[in-house]
Amino acid sequence: MTRRRMIAGNWKLHKTVTEAVALVRDLRRLVSQVRDCDIVVAPPYTALYPVAKALEDSNIKLSAQEMFYEDKGAFTGAVSGAMLNEVGCAYTIVAHSERRQLFGETLESSNKRVKAAFKHGLIPIFCIGETLAERQANQTMQVVAAQLDAGIAGLDSATLKRLVVAYEPVWAIGTGVVASPQQAQEVHRMIRERLRAKDSGAAEVIPLLYGGSVKPDNAKELLAQADIDGALVGGASLEAEQFAAIVKARPSA
Ligand code: 13P
Repeated sequence: MTRRRMIAGNWKLHKTVTEAVALVRDLRRLVSQVRDCDIVVAPPYTALYPVAKALEDSNIKLSAQEMFYEDKGAFTGAVSGAMLNEVGCAYTIVAHSERRQLFGETLESSNKRVKAAFKHGLIPIFCIGETLAERQANQTMQVVAAQLDAGIAGLDSATLKRLVVAYEPVWAIGTGVVASPQQAQEVHRMIRERLRAKDSGAAEVIPLLYGGSVKPDNAKELLAQADIDGALVGGASLEAEQFAAIVKARPSA
């Protein structure tokens, strides 16, 4: 397989600077030997720069949780890709379901963010996933496909190859109700096939992460699925030991 594995931690609205630096000091010690997997943490904005300093010369990369698509201007509260790049981010999460549900992210604005992230040298970790109501109405595949198509519209092949996609069913986020490995794999396979129809080379290299109640005790089975290349972890990324245990649950290279 030519795809890199990735385990990413989305800290959401957690950790002061002091707490964040303490967490990554522990984490870097616990995962220092890992070479066959990209390890990424996404602290809140306030902690990005101090965490970047605490991660210098480590194998852990930095991500933002969100990025605005404009470069500068009268956009109170917004942060641009250039700002994130300068403080040491290699990635930014884009269109997390909490941004879609609570902060007005749309299909169109998700595409603007994906493009703006690439423009500023950041790799988008682009999130898609259905709600419980959509799953119960048998709309999972069409909802996820529409989110995927909208987010990657207009990307050329070389750019598309650098994308990371995270499938996060909304009903599994923060609920403790994890998708079964079969449920997750079914959607991941559809995503892979849809990418393949668009660009076969890109489909082989784009890591597809699963997110939603990933824990040390369910990670191994999820990560063993053919089209699940990694995980986007919320709650369990807030404890160094738990996050490191998920990294260690990846299949051997
Ligand atoms: P939990 O792991 O807390 O369910 O969160 C998943 C998530 O939303 C990661 O982006």
